Amino acid sequence: MKVLFYAAKIYDKKSFDPALKNFPEIQIDYIDHELEPRTASLADGYDAICAFVSADVGAETLEILNKCGVKTVLMRCAGFNNVDTQKAKELGITVKRVPGYAPESVAELAMALALAVNRRLYKAYNKVRENDYTLKGLRGVLFNGKTAGIIGTGKIGAVMCKICHGFGMRVIAYDVYKNPSLDGFVEYVSLDELLAQSDLISLHCPLMDSTYHMINLETIKKMKDGVILVNTSRGALVDTNELIEGIRMNKFLGVGLDVYEEETGNVYEDRSDDIMQHSVTARLLAFPNVIITSHQGFYTMEALAAIAETTLQNLMDAANGVKNENDV
Ligand code: NAI
Repeated sequence: MKVLFYAAKIYDKKSFDPALKNFPEIQIDYIDHELEPRTASLADGYDAICAFVSADVGAETLEILNKCGVKTVLMRCAGFNNVDTQKAKELGITVKRVPGYAPESVAELAMALALAVNRRLYKAYNKVRENDYTLKGLRGVLFNGKTAGIIGTGKIGAVMCKICHGFGMRVIAYDVYKNPSLDGFVEYVSLDELLAQSDLISLHCPLMDSTYHMINLETIKKMKDGVILVNTSRGALVDTNELIEGIRMNKFLGVGLDVYEEETGNVYEDRSDDIMQHSVTARLLAFPNVIITSHQGFYTMEALAAIAETTLQNLMDAANGVKNENDV
C-alpha cells in the first residue's frame, strides 16, 4: 500500500521509517508540501495520505483525493477539527487518527508552560545571559495549596489533573462526562464555578462548535484576578482578541499557549525573516506575562514513536475493514 506523507519533517522520517519494519506491506513517499486543495492531486495513484494538524482536509481537498483514488486519510494527530468528516463519509473515505499517544507528553508541557509563565523563566533566562542578576519582574506565586481548574478530563486532561494534584493543588474539573479514574481527588463543578475558583485554568477539550471561543471576554470576566491560563488543546478555544482585552484588564498573572488561532501558516515554519502584515500573535507576545510555543505538546520521542506505530496500524486496519476508536 502506498502512502503519500504530506508536510513531512525530518523527525517524521526518523519516527516512521523505523516503524515501517513492522509493516512490510506499506511504502511511504514523504513530501514537504502541506495538504490543501492545491496539492491534493499529488496523491494520484496513492492508497492513502498522511496529514497533520495544519492540513486543510476540507470538502474540496477530499473531493480531489477521492478522484485520485485515495481511500484512507491517516491523521497523525489526535485532533481532527480540520477534517470535513461528513464529506469523507459521503465519499466513502476512511479517516483514522491517533487519539491517545503518550498523553503525558502534552500534559507535561501544559504544566511547563504554567510554571514558565508563573516564574517568568523566559525572562530570567535572558536576564542572566545579560549579566543582570536582579529579580525585577520575576516574582511568582506558589501552586501548592492553590486551585487548578481542568477543562476536559479525557486522556490529557486526566494526566494534567494528576500532575496538579502532585503539586499539592486542589483540583476541580469541568467536562460533559466524568472520568471515573479521577474519583477521590478531582471534584467536578460547573464551568462557571471552575472559572470563579481556579488559580490555574488548563484547557484540554477538543475544538468543536460547542467549544469554539469558550474563553472569551464574558468567561474571562468570571475568572479570578491573577489567574494563569494555559491552552495546549486548540487555538480557537480562545478568542484571541478578547484574550488580549482580558490581559489589558490585568486579569492574568500569566498566559501560556502551545496553540493559538493564527498558528496555521506558522506551525513548524521558520518565519524569522518575514515581515508580518498583521499579527495578533505579535500583539500577544508584546505582553511580559505571555509565553507561546509552537504546537510542540506532542513532540517527545515517546509520543512520536507511538504516533508512527498507531498510524501505520491504522492503515492496516482500514485496509482490513477493522473499525475501532481511531475512526473519525
Ligand atoms: P480526549 O478525547 O481523551 O478528551 C477530551 C475531553 O474533552 C473528553 O473527556 C470530552 O468529554 C471533553 N469535552 C468534550 N466537549 C467538552 C466541552 N464542551 N466542555 C468540556 N469538556 C469537553 O482527548 P485528549 O487526547 O485528552 O486531547 C485533548 C485535546 O488536546 C485534543 O482534542 C487536541 O485538540 C489537543 N492536543 C494537542 C496536542 C499538542 O501538541 N498541543 C497534541 C494532542 C492533542
